[in-house]
Amino acid sequence: MKKINVVTIDGPSASGKGALSRSIAYRFGFDILDSGLLYRLYAFLSHLKIDSDNISEVISKDISFVAEDDSVHVIYEENEITNQLRSEDIAKIASEYSAKKEVRELLFDIQRSFYNEKGLVADGRDMGTVVFKDAKIKIFLTASTEIRAKRRYLELQNRGQEVNMPALIADIEKRDLKDSSRELSPLSPAEDAHIIDSSEMSLEEVFSVTENLINEEFI
Ligand code: DC
Repeated sequence: MKKINVVTIDGPSASGKGALSRSIAYRFGFDILDSGLLYRLYAFLSHLKIDSDNISEVISKDISFVAEDDSVHVIYEENEITNQLRSEDIAKIASEYSAKKEVRELLFDIQRSFYNEKGLVADGRDMGTVVFKDAKIKIFLTASTEIRAKRRYLELQNRGQEVNMPALIADIEKRDLKDSSRELSPLSPAEDAHIIDSSEMSLEEVFSVTENLINEEFI
């Protein structure tokens, strides 16, 4: 299989995939695909009663992804909806939709269309196992539930959202179980993935391991 210029970063929720992807994209000048955001967007649009047959068209016509510094903003008909997409409520609905075959198929082509020869970093659950099987580098990033809940707690608090720690841990555990036990594209490392447990590592340490892998194997 011809390998393409993609770094995939898969792992459970709040394992630090987003932060790692952004620092890699920044360091190497790669494009970025946050596939979870697409599942959240699907959930958001369905909630607005947009028919599933029209969602693909709405995503290509009415949605723009704006990369700014180290974050991606999602604009729908001139309104910024990023914060709404990042809420735990939307995450729960996204997790439900992500188990459906038609949703995964529809989002497959949209995700592949993010590929850019100069390099792409793609984060999600099945980037290395399904969407970019042909990626040059695959990372599976994980961390203990408590550490991940703490990180998500701080992230949501920074965004001004109300959070309750025990409820957050329960939500994360439930979602992990659902994402890893579903029939279609369950969360699991690709055979050729580098597994990194970041429970006791700083973002800088995780970044440095990944940066070395890219320098050794890329381009
Ligand atoms: O990474 P996230 O929390 O933004 O993802 C939201 C939901 O979308 C998550 O519960 C599982 C689903 N998802 C998926 O099934 N496959 C992906 N590649 C990315 C996300």
